[in-house]
Amino acid sequence: MSNAAPRFPRCDQTAAWRALHAHYDAHGRALDLRDAFAADPQRFARFSQTAPQVFADLSKNRIDATTEALLLDLARQCGLEAHRDAMFSGEPVNGTEHRAAMHFLLRNPASAPVKWSKFAIDDVVDAVAEVQATRQAMLAWAGQVRADATLTDVVNIGIGGSDLGPQMAVLALDEFVTPAKRFHFVSNVDGHELGALLQKLKPRNTLFLIASKTFTTAETLTNARSARQWFLEQGAADAAVGHGAAPEISRHFVAITTHVAAANAFGIRTTFGFRDWVGGRYSVWSAIGLPLAIAIGAERFNEFLAGAHAMDVHFCSAPLAQNLPVRLGLLDVWYRNFHGFTSRNLAPYHSALRRFPAYCQQLEMESNGKRVDMDGQVLPYATAPVLWGEPGTNGQHAFFQMLHQGTDVIPVEFIAVKTPSHTLKGHHARLLANALAQAQALMVGSGRGAASPEGHRHFPGNRPSTFLLLDRLDPASLGALIALQEHRVFTSGAVWGLNSFDQWGVELGKLLAQDIEPRLASGDANGLDGSSAGLLHKLREK
Ligand code: F6P
Repeated sequence: MSNAAPRFPRCDQTAAWRALHAHYDAHGRALDLRDAFAADPQRFARFSQTAPQVFADLSKNRIDATTEALLLDLARQCGLEAHRDAMFSGEPVNGTEHRAAMHFLLRNPASAPVKWSKFAIDDVVDAVAEVQATRQAMLAWAGQVRADATLTDVVNIGIGGSDLGPQMAVLALDEFVTPAKRFHFVSNVDGHELGALLQKLKPRNTLFLIASKTFTTAETLTNARSARQWFLEQGAADAAVGHGAAPEISRHFVAITTHVAAANAFGIRTTFGFRDWVGGRYSVWSAIGLPLAIAIGAERFNEFLAGAHAMDVHFCSAPLAQNLPVRLGLLDVWYRNFHGFTSRNLAPYHSALRRFPAYCQQLEMESNGKRVDMDGQVLPYATAPVLWGEPGTNGQHAFFQMLHQGTDVIPVEFIAVKTPSHTLKGHHARLLANALAQAQALMVGSGRGAASPEGHRHFPGNRPSTFLLLDRLDPASLGALIALQEHRVFTSGAVWGLNSFDQWGVELGKLLAQDIEPRLASGDANGLDGSSAGLLHKLREK
């Protein structure tokens, strides 16, 4: 691989940043969406955008044409296109770990290796061949599992990116999931999770997928060891009461990892690999997607990849002004750094997308929740917002109160699906009406001035939202929706000058947990801070 990503000025040292501040002071702060719509009948058309599988209405955001033009200047001055091209060329854009970030290769179609990319280099072409071989092996194996009627339960043991992606996608694509199997996801080291599940399983009918990029993650290995122990003990007990020979680990445990030797040492023979240039939170497209491949089959899994690939092509080739991930990522910068909004709400109006906010949380907050730039220099401006959310309409009966009348302005991203997959009368129109009504209420409020005095019943309005619309929730649209989120996070991360592909912030807690665990048994509080020592004593009280 060649040199690291090109150097560009820090975003706050560009002319565009200064111009955006001036624009914010002169117009942005006071922009009222109701006036903006009254002044421009074309606003919806002007600020809406079609991308592969996704239609986006950006018109209810606190932007005007100048805002977008200046944000695009900012992107160019910060080298967004050069950073994007560096990533798509296989450059080591993850500088602190000296790695490329080539998750996009995992969804490159077998028939057209990197043909769409004008940035292809030899390394990338080699990687494509390897990716395709692994994909074929994994999909063929998933097919065998699907055909095996004795395997009724598939248990994925993994955490973070080795859990959230496949879990979210299996739930989201429920309509396409084989009814012949149950899918379970165990992530937490809290034994309540695994313990409760094991009670419902039979070893000879269960397939365990041990998913860990590093095969060192404490939670996953703890759960994997307990599952193995249960499997051996319970399998032997079943055999003893005449249920045939005890089932074998080699048939019932599979590992998905970059560290095949560690999986072998654990006693697992069947492994599916991927490379270290696939970040955990970008790994659902790799063998980490195996639960999804078993759930929906090879053809549908390929559609999932194809949907994401279409979004890759869009991100790489659409002009920045009509590039949806770019527009969303720049909107995030505008809200965070100029309006000072600290969080963004994600409101999927589709219950199958109930884990999508959690998935996007890791994507956004582990990628861009950073206070130093690529060189480790402390940044003087804010980066990732807090991302949170729940499906609608549930959220309306919980936290929407705050979205409408709280003291903070929190931009909302609605996701709706035009055609439902159920046939229950009336539900879908009511669901969509609620999504539209919430976005409308946030913006329109209850009127201004004397006609609507302040007070408990007053809705201030002018609260921004984005509306993403899919025709159907299917493998292709889900793939595109995820890739859209990946690239918008890349966009804001590139403007902020971050390395969006490392996660050093998770390390300290892991180390301290290793130090504290033996203290729970020994009671040794030496060197602990007063609060930790106090809690340790409290936990040891008889
Ligand atoms: O600790 C954070 C993290 O490294 C995530 O980035 C990752 O997705 C998760 O842990 C799981 O890691 P692994 O797949 O290596 O077990």
